[in-house]
Amino acid sequence: MIKIKTPEEIDLLRIAGKIVGDTHHYLQPYLKPGITTGEIDQLAEAFILAQGATASFKNYQGYPGSVCTSVNDEVVHGIPSDRVLQAGDIIGIDIGANYKGYHGDSAWTYAIGEVSEEKQNLMKYTEEALFKGLSTIHDGARVGDIGYAIYTFARKHNLGVVRELVGHGVGSNIHEEPDVPNYGKKNTGPILKSGMVIAVEPMLNAGTHHVCILEDDWTIVTADGKPSAHFEHTVLVTKDGYEILTKR
Ligand code: MF3
Ligand code: CO
Repeated sequence: MIKIKTPEEIDLLRIAGKIVGDTHHYLQPYLKPGITTGEIDQLAEAFILAQGATASFKNYQGYPGSVCTSVNDEVVHGIPSDRVLQAGDIIGIDIGANYKGYHGDSAWTYAIGEVSEEKQNLMKYTEEALFKGLSTIHDGARVGDIGYAIYTFARKHNLGVVRELVGHGVGSNIHEEPDVPNYGKKNTGPILKSGMVIAVEPMLNAGTHHVCILEDDWTIVTADGKPSAHFEHTVLVTKDGYEILTKR
C-alpha cells in the first residue's frame, strides 16, 4: 500500500528534506581536489547531527558510512574512505536524514575542479532527466509516466539508464512503496495521489547501462568503466504538480 501522508507527517518530512538540502549546500565549498570521501562523510554527519537529525543510511542494512560517495565509474553506494579526490573526478553524494522518525533523501553529482566534456554533459543531462521525470508528477499521474520521461530523454542523449536500482516512496522508512523505475510506459503503474512522498533518482551512464557490484558488496560500478551520474530529490505529490522537499 502507498501511504498518503498526514499534514503532521508532511511537516516532519519537510524538515527532514530541508536538512538534506542544507547538508548538500554546506558541503559544496569543501568539494575541491585533496579532500577525501571519508572527510566528506564526517562533515556531512556532523552537520546532520547539529540539525537534530541522524544520518538515515548509517547502519542501514549494515551500510558502514553516513552518506554514500560514488566517484567516476561508481554509480551509487560508494563507501567513504581515505580516497583522495583529484581534479577531473566527479562525485555523487547521496544523503539521507532522519528527523523525528521521518526521512529526506537526495543525491547530487559534483565536479571536482575541471572535468571532461563527457562528464560535464553526463551531469547536465542527468540533472535535466531528473526534472523531466518530476515534471510528469501530479495527482492522478502514474509512476510509469516518470520513468518514461526519464528514459526517453536519457536515450535521446545516448546515455545508459541503470535498471537495477530505482526510486522509491519516502516516509517513516527511507524506502517505501512504490518503486519508481527510471524506465516505464506512459499510463502504467501505480497512480500518484496528493500527499504521497516519493524519491525520483535517475542514475545515467556515459556508456553501457550494465553495472557490476564490487567485492565490498555495496559499491555499484559501470560494467565498462565509463562515468555515471546520479541526481535525486524527495518530492511531495500535490494536486497540480509536486513540491521538492530536498531543495538545495
Ligand atoms: N540513497 C539510497 C537511495 O536513494 C539509499 C542508500 S542505501 C545505503 O535509495 F544503504 F547505501 F545507505
Ligand atoms: Co533514494
